[in-house]
This record gives sequence, structure tokens and C-alpha cells, in this order.
Amino acid sequence: RHGWVMFLVDLVATCSMHEGAYQSGYLKWETPEDVDPIFPVDDALIAVGVDGELLERSVAQQRGYVVKMLNSVFQIGIPYNAEGGRRKSLALDGLYEFYVFNLYVEQILLEGDQVDARLRVFRTLVTPLLPRPLFCENGTLLAERMFLAYLGDVPEDVVLVSVGLNGQEFPLQAQTLTGFTVTEVAHANNTRGYTLKVPFDHPVVQQQQDRAMQYVLMIQFTLHVLPEERPVYHQTSVTVLLDASPPAINASCSDSGIRFTLEHRPSEHPWQITIGSELLTSELAARHGYVLSNHSQRLQLDVPLFTAGYEYKNVSLKGFAGTFEVHLQDPKSAEVHSWVQTCPFSLSQYIFCSRNGVMTVVADLSPMVQSGLDPARTSLLSKDCRPTESDGTRVLYSFPLNSCGNT
Ligand SMILES: *[C@@H]1O[C@H](CO)[C@@H](O)[C@H](O)[C@H]1NC(C)=O
Ligand SMILES: *[C@@H]1O[C@H](CO)[C@@H](O)[C@H](O)[C@H]1NC(C)=O
Ligand SMILES: *[C@@H]1O[C@H](CO)[C@@H](O)[C@H](O)[C@H]1NC(C)=O
Ligand SMILES: *[C@@H]1O[C@H](CO)[C@@H](O)[C@H](O)[C@H]1NC(C)=O
Ligand SMILES: *[C@@H]1O[C@H](CO)[C@@H](O)[C@H](O)[C@H]1NC(C)=O
Repeated sequence: RHGWVMFLVDLVATCSMHEGAYQSGYLKWETPEDVDPIFPVDDALIAVGVDGELLERSVAQQRGYVVKMLNSVFQIGIPYNAEGGRRKSLALDGLYEFYVFNLYVEQILLEGDQVDARLRVFRTLVTPLLPRPLFCENGTLLAERMFLAYLGDVPEDVVLVSVGLNGQEFPLQAQTLTGFTVTEVAHANNTRGYTLKVPFDHPVVQQQQDRAMQYVLMIQFTLHVLPEERPVYHQTSVTVLLDASPPAINASCSDSGIRFTLEHRPSEHPWQITIGSELLTSELAARHGYVLSNHSQRLQLDVPLFTAGYEYKNVSLKGFAGTFEVHLQDPKSAEVHSWVQTCPFSLSQYIFCSRNGVMTVVADLSPMVQSGLDPARTSLLSKDCRPTESDGTRVLYSFPLNSCGNT
């Protein structure tokens, strides 16, 4: 006997009552029991495939298909998301998915070492509806003062169509994105992700100031399942609390001026530095002869003695006190914090004008003292202008700007 019998699919169907099942992530199917108990069964004599094509055993294994024999029954397990299957998203109360696998099995029945029959079975296996959770990650960038929300695990048949920010809807197609961005990234595992970036200072962001500054962004992502365009929503909310207290300023005295330093903090409230009534900028610094350096970590302002903004007190031949004031201003609440630094200075000769219009001159007359001059008896061009203070070698004159022959 040479030939073999080929059973028709219907016949096999009547043999196998197994409809397929879904269990622990596997689509399962079993071959009919007792095809013919006299046939020896061996798992070498079964081949598994998909969509009407059998696969090499190694390929099937690589894809995770499992074939086990139990009491003369072959149990076939296909991982629900294995290669060869198809998936579909579904929008219900949330996002769901199901997988369809067109199983194809060939079983060879032997009589002796002769092929007696080949059973071929087609079975469409379908998973139940499986929840397909999206995930959202808070990647807010404090240093950049930027909300960042990443929506991930979006299946390939689902697209983002609109974002709602604190109740205001921004459809993506309509190019309504002003001042914030949405970028898409595709991953190798057939999912995509969306990155939403909204600056803290964007008009949609809710701000509340107490001891700390609170920024709140409630986000609703609206996605469409294709091709039916049924919507699914994903909501999240991000709250950021930023320390709104003014940063500490350190000031130190040197022989030639005052140095202010301010360490930048990662979540710094946008405090502005003002001097007098002017905003500190590199242009203002250059105009007044201040030395400003501003790096990512600290701002340093060197204010040389006698530059604009100083006030002088207790001026005597021994020295004087120089005072400089910087302000930290909150541009929103107009709250102002002042930092006043007073340093003692002692120079042998100098000249300066005070804000109240008084000119001060300290001169060292040592060379003339050697030729018999008494510093106390000197005067300026105008003979009425006598020294306010003098010692053996130095004199101090202090007079209103519009007197003593000044022009
Ligand atoms: C897909 O890949 C991305 C990027 O590697 C990963 O974040 C995500 O969790 C993966 N999703 C699934 C469902 O494996
Ligand atoms: C989000 O991230 C920011 C910055 O790390 C953090 O301040 C905030 O508490 C996070 N969580 C939420 C739920 O807003
Ligand atoms: C200010 O000075 C104090 C004491 O000298 C020091 O502990 C602190 O770190 C300094 N802060 C800044 C902002 O330089
Ligand atoms: C200093 O740099 C920070 C950022 O590094 C910037 O926010 C700030 O405005 C700068 N300040 C001045 C006075 O230039
Ligand atoms: C000026 O001198 C007086 C009296 O000696 C002293 O009380 C005061 O603190 C001094 N002012 C400054 C700004 O050094």
C-alpha cells in the first residue's frame, strides 16, 4: 500500500472538538484525542504554522510557539502577541486589544513506518479583550521650568489627536499649539510615545503663590483608534511646587570694592536683580563699570569702589564706610528683597562725589610737608575752603559741588 489518505478539514473538525482557549498569555489548542490509539504518536510528526503555511520547527520555536504531548494529545500554545498573529485596538471604557491567530497544524499518522494519514487543521484563535494600559511619565524639567509628560505604549493603530490643558482643548491637526510642543517617537516594538512640553509660565498653567509657587497642569490626551476613529482618553495631572523664597546673596568686602555672589538653584523662581531702579543686565554692568559674570551655577557681581550706586558714610582720614545695595524683585508679585552691604575702606588718597552733591578729596601732602608745609593750613583755590580734617601728612576736604571754585 503506497498511498495515504488525506482527511478533509471537516472530518478533522468533527474529530477535534477543541475550540481553542486563552490561558496565561497563551492561545491554546489541542489535537483530537485518540485519533487512532493503535498509531504511535510522536511529536516529531506534528508541524505548526500560521495562515495556511507550516513553519520549520526552529522558526516556530524562535517565535515561542510551544508543542507538548500529554496522553496522546498534542497541546499547542501560541504566545498571544507572537509573530504571525494580528492585533487590533478597541476603544471601550479605556483602551483594549485583542489578537487573532490563524493556526494551521499538520499531524502525520503512521502505520508502521508508513505515513497513513495527514490531518490538517485550520483554527482561528482569538484572545479575549485584554486591557491595553497606556502609561504616562512625569519628566518635568525643573531647571528649564518646563512640564514634561511622556505618554507611552501607544499601539500603532492608535494616534494622538488632541491635548487638553487645564480644560482648554488643543487639536493637533489644527496647529493650535502655541508656546508648547508635542513630539512623537516611534519605537522598535511597534509602539509609539508622545512627549508634551509646556513651560511653567504658559498662560494655561495654573499658578498659585503662597510660601511656595505652585504650578498645576491637568492634561487630557485624546487618542483615536484607527480606522474607526473611536476616541480614548488618558488623563494625568502634574503639580510642581517651587521654593519662592529669594535666593541667598553673599557679599564680601575687598580693598577695591564689594563682591556679591548668588548661587543659582535648580528650581529658581525667576527673581530679577535690580540696582537702584534698573534691571541688572550685562549692558548696565558695562555702562557703570561693574564686572558681571553669570554661569549656570552662580552669578557674581563685582562693584568697584566709586562706581555709581555707592553711598559713603563716616568719612574721615582713617577711612570711610561704603554701602552698596542690590534688590531681588519678583516680576509677578512685585515683592522686593534688598541686600545692603557696607564695607570699610581706607585709602591714602581719593576723590569722590556723594549722591547728596558733596565732593570729598583726601590728599597726601608728604612731599610738601618735607619742604615745610603744614597740611592744616592749606586751602583750595578758593581761600575759604579749608580742610575738614588733617594730620601730619594728609588732608581731607569736603565741600558742596557748587562751591570752592568747582565748575
Ligand atoms: C516599547 O519600547 C519602549 C522604548 O524602548 C518602552 O518604553 C516600552 O515600554 C515598550 N513597550 C512595550 C509594550 O513593550
Ligand atoms: C513631577 O515631577 C516634578 C519634578 O521632578 C515634581 O516636582 C513633581 O512632584 C512630580 N509629580 C507630580 C505628580 O506632579
Ligand atoms: C555664603 O557664605 C556662607 C558663610 O560664609 C556660606 O556658608 C554660604 O555657602 C555662602 N553662600 C553663597 C551663596 O555663596
Ligand atoms: C543669569 O543666568 C540665568 C540662567 O543661567 C538667567 O536666568 C538670568 O537671567 C541671568 N541673570 C543675569 C542678570 O544675566
Ligand atoms: C558711622 O560711625 C558711627 C559712630 O562711630 C557708627 O555708629 C556707625 O555704625 C557708622 N556707620 C557706618 C555705616 O559705618
